[in-house]
Amino acid sequence: MTYSIPFNRPCLVGNEYQYIAEAIANGHASGDGPFTRRCHELLERELQVPKALLTTSCTHALEMAAILLNCGPGDEVILPSFTFVSTANAFVLRGAQMVFADIRPDTLNLDETKLEALITPRTRAIVVVHYAGVACEMETICAIARRHGVAVIEDNAHGLFARYQGRYTGTFGCLATQSFHETKNVTCGEGGALLVNDPALIERALIVREKGTNRSQFFRGQVDKYTWVDLGSSYLPSDLLAAFLFAQLEARNFIQKKRQRVWDYYRAHLHSWAAENDIQLPVVAANCEQAYHMFYLILPSPEYREALILHLKAQGILSVFHYVPLHRSEMGLKWSAREMDCPVTERVSACLLRLPFYNDLTEAEQARVVEAVSAIPEPKPQRIQERRSA
Ligand SMILES: Cc1ncc(COP(=O)(O)O)c(C=O)c1O
Repeated sequence: MTYSIPFNRPCLVGNEYQYIAEAIANGHASGDGPFTRRCHELLERELQVPKALLTTSCTHALEMAAILLNCGPGDEVILPSFTFVSTANAFVLRGAQMVFADIRPDTLNLDETKLEALITPRTRAIVVVHYAGVACEMETICAIARRHGVAVIEDNAHGLFARYQGRYTGTFGCLATQSFHETKNVTCGEGGALLVNDPALIERALIVREKGTNRSQFFRGQVDKYTWVDLGSSYLPSDLLAAFLFAQLEARNFIQKKRQRVWDYYRAHLHSWAAENDIQLPVVAANCEQAYHMFYLILPSPEYREALILHLKAQGILSVFHYVPLHRSEMGLKWSAREMDCPVTERVSACLLRLPFYNDLTEAEQARVVEAVSAIPEPKPQRIQERRSA
């Protein structure tokens, strides 16, 4: 089925084709060419991080993080159950066990009030996810981590250019990961980055990213040949992708403004309807500047969500949901350090719906989405009816 309003549509912002042509003319299409360097410099300058390294995906940046922390059998990693599989898989690949934490009912971020109780002598890392580009409570999380000598890693797949207390997300943990997948604000189709905030990890990050070799030392003239010195893989993207990405990164303010307009429109036009119908809209705390990555509804019941998806589909509008709780998944059960109870994750996972969201979504298209959403046919889903008659 084709949708007249898709959920996502990758959008060009200007110089993508020109830069790809330049990358080919440069004669350097493989990784770490001139455009990769320009992306690194831009990210380092803008975010004020000691080292930014492009990767082939956020998944791969997470895998690099797990290697850099020497995660292995016997280690535990605390992470939200409400996240993409890669947040967990990267550490399970090294043999670590998962401790799935529940999320806050307002921001859907890891519930920092329950974090400390999950820490044991085996805890190697806390991986936070800034869901929908709204920051976790980093002050509390970092204080707990410091107290216990545990590393913090930020899965910032959604949150490039979001801020917490005025500071960019991705700059709090010793390592942070970004995604440039086609659904993200800034994209090159598939791509990611590792932000290395702890300078002590930079040299090894270069090695892990280059198949476990000291190739970058060779290019810097520090060794006369390069060889296999550590674990690693091929984590660097082609310079053609970096060329596309650089055009998008250069246009970051333009992209963010467009996405802010889309988010604000949904919020302004769905606010009253949501309040009347017991529907939760995204919550952004006063100390956060969000990334405008997505707009979601949390509906009163799974049945309501199903009805709304079908209702939108009938009008050519694609809405989607995620994530299936990891602590209930086949692999999650196998790799859990212990059985976890995550009731908020389970409710949100069953009731959350994401509306179409992309840079070039027009106001006319959004008006159609809003009209369709707020005209979900009677009968009202059961829970609301029950509440009204009580
Ligand atoms: C929270 C989170 N982490 C990691 C990823 C993986 O990103 P990528 O597709 O760049 O590997 C995603 C994907 O959307 C995600 O939502």
